[in-house]
Formats: sequence, C-alpha cells, structure tokens
Amino acid sequence: MVAHKTLLGGLLLAPAANAATHQMIIGTFSTAFLYTVEFDDTTNSLTLLKNTTTPYASQWIALSGDKKNLYGNTDTSAFDLVSYTIADDKGSELIYNTTTVIGTCATGAVHVEANPVAPNAVYGVTYKDICGGVASVDAAGVVVESEQNFTYSDSSSLHGIGLHPSGAYLYTADMGENAVWTHALDATTGEVTLVGNSTYSGGDPRHVNVHPSGQYAYSITEHTSEVLVLSIDNSTGLATLVDGAAYSILAENATGSHRGETARVSATGTLLYATTRKNYSDETSTQGFVSAFTLDGTTGELLSQDFIVPTTTGGGSTSGASNMVVPSLYDDDYFAILDHGEVGFVEMWKRSEDGTSAEVVAHLDLDDGGGCCSNGVWLS
Ligand SMILES: *[C@@H]1O[C@H](CO)[C@@H](O)[C@H](O)[C@H]1NC(C)=O
Ligand SMILES: *[C@@H]1O[C@H](CO)[C@@H](O)[C@H](O)[C@H]1NC(C)=O
Ligand SMILES: *[C@@H]1O[C@H](CO)[C@@H](O)[C@H](O)[C@H]1NC(C)=O
Ligand SMILES: *[C@@H]1O[C@H](CO)[C@@H](O)[C@H](O)[C@H]1NC(C)=O
Ligand SMILES: *[C@@H]1O[C@H](CO)[C@@H](O)[C@H](O)[C@H]1NC(C)=O
Ligand SMILES: *[C@@H]1O[C@H](CO)[C@@H](O)[C@H](O)[C@H]1NC(C)=O
Repeated sequence: MVAHKTLLGGLLLAPAANAATHQMIIGTFSTAFLYTVEFDDTTNSLTLLKNTTTPYASQWIALSGDKKNLYGNTDTSAFDLVSYTIADDKGSELIYNTTTVIGTCATGAVHVEANPVAPNAVYGVTYKDICGGVASVDAAGVVVESEQNFTYSDSSSLHGIGLHPSGAYLYTADMGENAVWTHALDATTGEVTLVGNSTYSGGDPRHVNVHPSGQYAYSITEHTSEVLVLSIDNSTGLATLVDGAAYSILAENATGSHRGETARVSATGTLLYATTRKNYSDETSTQGFVSAFTLDGTTGELLSQDFIVPTTTGGGSTSGASNMVVPSLYDDDYFAILDHGEVGFVEMWKRSEDGTSAEVVAHLDLDDGGGCCSNGVWLS
C-alpha cells in the first residue's frame, strides 16, 4: 500500500521526460555571439542549433513574457540594453532591433529582467554602481525608450533583480549595502517607487528570485555562498529576510573564498537550485558546488536542504566567472549549468530519484576562444 502510494506520488510529482526537445539561448562574457542549443530528453543529447553573430556580447540575457523578444546588456561602457526579435519557435532566428541607453551611470547593466505583466517594462541595474533603469517596449515587445532613471544608495553595488509574479514589485540584490530592496511598479508605466529594504549583516546578496506563490523570495550571497529566505508582505510587497534562514551551499571540505553565483526556483516551484564558484584565492582550485532545497510548492516555504554536489568546474578563469544554474521549464529534476573557461560549456544535470544527489547527463563545449558562457534562458 505504502509502496503503491509512493509510486503514484512519484508519477504525479515528477513527470518523466516527455520525449521532446528543449531550446536554450546562451550569452557570453566577451564574444559577440548568441548560441541556441537544444536538449533532447530522450537521447540525453545537447547540440548547437545556431551560432548568431551579434553587435555586442551580452553577459546577461532575459526573455519577454511571450518569448518573442530577447533583451541583453552590451559590452560597451554605457548603461544600455540591446533588443532582439526571436523570429522562430526554436530561437534560432534572432534579429537585432535596437540599442537603448536606460540610465545615467557610465557602467554597463549587469542584470536585466522583463516584466511578463503589462506594460511589459524591462529593468536593468549596474554593478559596482548605484543606477537602475526602466525601459518601455513597443507593441511587438521591442525595447524602444528609456522610461525612468533611478538610483539606490551611495554605497550600492547592484548585482541582481527579480520580479514578483503579480508584476507589481521589483526586488534588487545589493552587494554594497548588503541589502535586498523592494520597489513597487506602476501598472501603467512600469516606473518604480521605493518601498524599502532588508539588510543582512552576514553577507552580500547577489541575486534574488521570487517563488511563483509570491510569498517568498530567495537570495544568494556572493562572499559567504549562503541561500537566504525572504518573506514577502502581502499588502506592501516588502521582502524581509527571515531570521536565521541562511543556508551555506559549501561542502564541508570547501576551503578558501568561494563566490556564490545564483539561486533559482524549479519548474513547478517545488525545488530551489543554487550554485557557487571555485575558491578564487587559489588559482589551482576548480571545485564549485550545486545545492538543492525542497520547497513547499504552494507557499514557497523552504523545507529542507537535500544535497551539495561538486560541479564539473568552478566557473572558469582565474577567479571563477560563471557556474550558472538554470532550471529546466519542463521537469523539476532537470537543470542546466553553464560555465566559462578557455572552453566554455553547457551541461544538463538530473537530480537522482531519491533527491539526495544529481549528476551530469549531457555536456556540450562551446569553444569560441574563451568568451562563453555566462547566462542562458530556456525557450521550452
Ligand atoms: C524589429 O525587427 C523586426 C523583424 O525584422 C521588425 O519587423 C520590427 O519592425 C523591428 N522593430 C524595431 C523597433 O526595430
Ligand atoms: C535616462 O538617462 C539617459 C542617459 O543620460 C538618457 O538618455 C535618458 O533619456 C534618461 N531617461 C529619462 C526617462 O529621463
Ligand atoms: C533601509 O531601510 C531602513 C529601514 O527602513 C532605513 O533606515 C535605511 O536607511 C534603508 N537603507 C538605505 C540604504 O536606504
Ligand atoms: C496578495 O494576495 C493577493 C490574493 O491572493 C494576490 O493577488 C497578490 O498578488 C498578493 N500580493 C503580494 C505582494 O503577494
Ligand atoms: C568534497 O565534498 C563533496 C560533498 O561531500 C564530495 O562530493 C567531494 O568529492 C569532496 N571533494 C573532495 C576534493 O574531496
Ligand atoms: C561562432 O561563430 C564564430 C564566427 O564564425 C566563430 O568564431 C565562433 O568560434 C563560433 N562559436 C562556436 C561555439 O562554434
């Protein structure tokens, strides 16, 4: 009886790979290409579908809610956004549209996100700097105009943003202020108004990702490699760090100074995956880690930490740049890890059936002389 129940639960909660192909667009740190790769979940193979030459390298890329447009930062010294039309379902036809300055800082955007809720504004922030920018899009979703320039505080060093599922709030991880900021978004213009912040004296929040319930957000700290849980106030949208909810994603044998990378919720909201990079104080170190947490799928409450497993490398380059985790859209157990190095690569990982580990099921090198790979977005 028990076994029967377990089997049923397993079938319901973890749909098997569904005999399909899944496409991801990948950006680079320094080479002006966008890569479209495809994962086949029956053969467990990753292939390069398209190599698109672009006007700029985009270290950060984001999709519009309808997946018809791709936005990225540029490798110029301006705080601007580049906008592409995705002209086919597989993301292999990317057409350059516009480049738009979205803020006053003379520093590039480090993180870009698009609001899937109208008016579908696009948001960016600057790293080691204090600027945010809001851009508006035309009817086809192409970034066409700077909508609002705003700043955080004098000590800010902004690194990541996340949107509330209602489309009504923007959250910003600030490594300078050791804070996560909440801004309310105007439903007509997309412009921001400050709601408040929540600080963590133990480390520096780098990225922030909101659960689909809208009740919790998760942040990763860079210099302490911890996952933080924030609870979101239903009436004001303010995200506040939950006391004591800081979970290290470093294995016990980890030494030196690792740098937390990102934390992201899985397809149905039942897991949180987080990665950290190598010990950057040791040039010979190559070990980064990926960790998984079980969440209450309805509320987003964090229930348990399930594993910490070494990644294939630790982010490439001498300091460790990437090791980005991007959960799949179709199965909570599958996630991609992108990495940088002399030869960048993308891998597909699968969580074990008992949830206590994960392993690589497919690997694809993307050799462009050391530019790839920074961030990726799944189309399907
Ligand atoms: C964006 O590119 C598409 C495809 O070429 C084109 O139809 C559209 O007019 C362009 N929009 C802008 C604002 O450049
Ligand atoms: C934001 O600043 C940029 C750079 O100075 C400028 O081009 C843009 O017009 C400004 N946007 C607004 C809404 O004022
Ligand atoms: C963060 O919020 C606190 C409490 O409201 C406030 O005192 C502080 O000035 C804020 N920090 C910044 C950098 O604005
Ligand atoms: C508050 O709850 C309502 C109703 O469930 C929901 O629509 C809204 O998005 C929530 N707001 C926040 C900030 O979670
Ligand atoms: C470090 O610990 C992890 C997790 O326990 C283990 O998988 C890995 O093999 C260890 N690495 C070394 C170098 O011992
Ligand atoms: C993409 O194409 C460019 C130009 O042909 C080439 O230099 C680069 O190495 C290619 N990237 C990959 C991963 O093959």
